[in-house]
Order: sequence, then C-alpha cells, then structure tokens
Amino acid sequence: MSDAVERAQAAVAEMDITEGVAELEGTSGRVEVDDKRMINCRADLNQLVPFKYDWAWQKYLDGCANHWMPQEVNMNADLALWKKADGLTDDERRIVKRNLGFFSTADSLVANNLVLAIYRLITNPECRQYILRQSFEEAIHTHAYQYCIESLGMDEGEIFNMYQEIPSVAKKAQWGIQYTRELSDPEFTTGTVETDKALLENLIAFYCVLEGIFFYCGFTQILSMGRRNKMTGVAEQFQYILRDESMHVNFGVDVINQIKLENPHLWDQQMRDKATQMILEGTELEIQYARDTMPRGVLGMNAPMMEEYLQFIANRRLAQLGLPEQFKGVNNPFPWMSEIMDLRKEKNFFETRVTEYQVGGALSWE
Ligand SMILES: [Fe+2]
Ligand SMILES: [Fe+2]
Repeated sequence: MSDAVERAQAAVAEMDITEGVAELEGTSGRVEVDDKRMINCRADLNQLVPFKYDWAWQKYLDGCANHWMPQEVNMNADLALWKKADGLTDDERRIVKRNLGFFSTADSLVANNLVLAIYRLITNPECRQYILRQSFEEAIHTHAYQYCIESLGMDEGEIFNMYQEIPSVAKKAQWGIQYTRELSDPEFTTGTVETDKALLENLIAFYCVLEGIFFYCGFTQILSMGRRNKMTGVAEQFQYILRDESMHVNFGVDVINQIKLENPHLWDQQMRDKATQMILEGTELEIQYARDTMPRGVLGMNAPMMEEYLQFIANRRLAQLGLPEQFKGVNNPFPWMSEIMDLRKEKNFFETRVTEYQVGGALSWE
C-alpha cells in the first residue's frame, strides 16, 4: 500500500462527525417545520424536508414539467422571412431587433442577481430548490435569444450592445441595476431592520418590475407577430419564455408576501409607498419603451393600446402585493396574452417545435 493510501485511511479513521456538523450553516440537529424562515433562518439549510412552503416545492415540480430547449424550435421559416427583402416591414424588423437586444442582456442580469445574491439571502431550502430551477431557466432564455440572433444571422455586436446604446433599452437596464444595488453587493447581508427592508425592496424591484413589467411590451409584440404567422420560431421561443416568466413572478410574489407575513414590521407605510413608486416608475419606463419600439401602429397594436395593457399589468402587480391599484378603469386590450401564459405545454401555439418533454423528463418524438 502506498504512503498516500495509508494517509487517506488514517485521516478517515480519525474523523469526528460532531465537528463536521457544527461547521454546517445554521444549527445542527433535526430541523422542525417551525424552525424554517424565509430570511435570516438559523436552521440547517441542507435539510430540504420537512417542507414548510409547499407552494415553493410545487413550483419547482411545475418548472421541471415545463422543460424545453431552444434548439427544438425550427427557425427555417424565420430565416427565410428575415432574409426576404419585402418579408417584414421596417417597423416589424425594428421590433424584432429591439426585443432581442433588450432581452439578450436583461436575462443575464436577472440570472446574475439570482445566483450571486437572491440564492444566498433567501434562507430556505425548498425556495432555494426553485431558485436553482429558475436560474437554469434564465440560462435557457439567454440561450434562446442567442440562438435566434445566430439563426437569423444578425449583427451580434449591435444586438448585444443595445442595452448601452439605445436609450429606451438602456434606461430599463439602468433602472434594474440601480434598484438591485444591494443584491449586487457581495458584502451585503440581512439581519437588521434596515438591511431586511433593503432586501425586500430589491426583491420587489427584481420580481415585480424587472420580471413582472419590463418583459411585457416585448413579449406582446413578438407574440402578436407570431399570431400573424410571422417569425413563428422566434415567437414560439418567446411563448415558452413567457410561460416560465409568469411562474417566476408568481414565485417572487409568494416569497415577498411570506417575508411580509413573517416580518410585519418591515411592511410599514414607507415601504408600501416605495413599492408603489417602483412599480409606477417601471410602468413609465415600459410605456416609453413601447413608444420607442412602435412609433406607428404595427401588428394590430399601437403605443396607446400598449400603455393601457401596461397599466393593467401594473394594477395586477400592485394587487398581488396587497397595494391599491393606481390606474382606474383600465382593461386588458390583449386578452389572448393571458391565454398564452396559461398554455399547457402540450399545446404549441405556433407549432414549430418538434419534441415535447413528458412530466418526469422523458422525451417523446412526434
Ligand atoms: Fe428569463
Ligand atoms: Fe425570469
């Protein structure tokens, strides 16, 4: 036996398991449901069960059941239409480019915040399990945009730099960075009223504005294009992304409301006002984005219709947080969007996808 093997055997024989457990995050010993908390939890985070937040585990299972990959969508018709001189109008081309420009970097920003900060600060294993799933979905989304950009032979430098070079795109990126500042600070920790409030504020900016408002003008535009039988591959990618995103928002709202429930002192008038203000600022930025991407009516929609839709979405976000609606009497001018969001994976809206995942992850070929 070599010296190295003997040293390894001796080291294993000398191990003291009480020391190892004491070094784990949180307290040692069996975890009870009542020990679990959304933030600042001191119980061992390596023990997934017993579940306290069944909704988080259910969302993890639902996310897995909705699994998809960008390469499964056929992009041939899109490429042909994109290359054809009179295939799309200038206004339609502008919409495709602006949206790929915004989303291709926005989803990377979202993923970075999730992995580098939200995962660390949410101290609950079943929520972390969903956050891991969400993080992979964000990777798939960035992959989907890259795949569209590559399939259509677009100028990558132009598209990937829009978040710095096109004002209506740059403003949204800037807002996102500014209002998730604490999240992006690696030294930031919670545990005081001030820092817990900062986290709650950042989570509202992240889930209710970045994911809950900033995606909705672009999704509506691209999906409207698909409904008119144009760029159906890109539209189908966006359809799957929208379905994922609506679950991300619902998860975020549940996390935020649970933090409020466990820490009612954080949800004071000042925090309510701040949350309302952030949602209204996000709505205003998205309305500006709608005007920039639709200088004229296009695809059966125009900027004023989009403005009403975004006000409808803002009311919904406010209501989800238990805050009063700010836009009276607005209706949803695009009811078909809700239909697409709730679409089960068996039903492809644009029918360009060649495979389907079964619940449990097995592939079947049609
Ligand atoms: Fe995403
Ligand atoms: Fe997301």
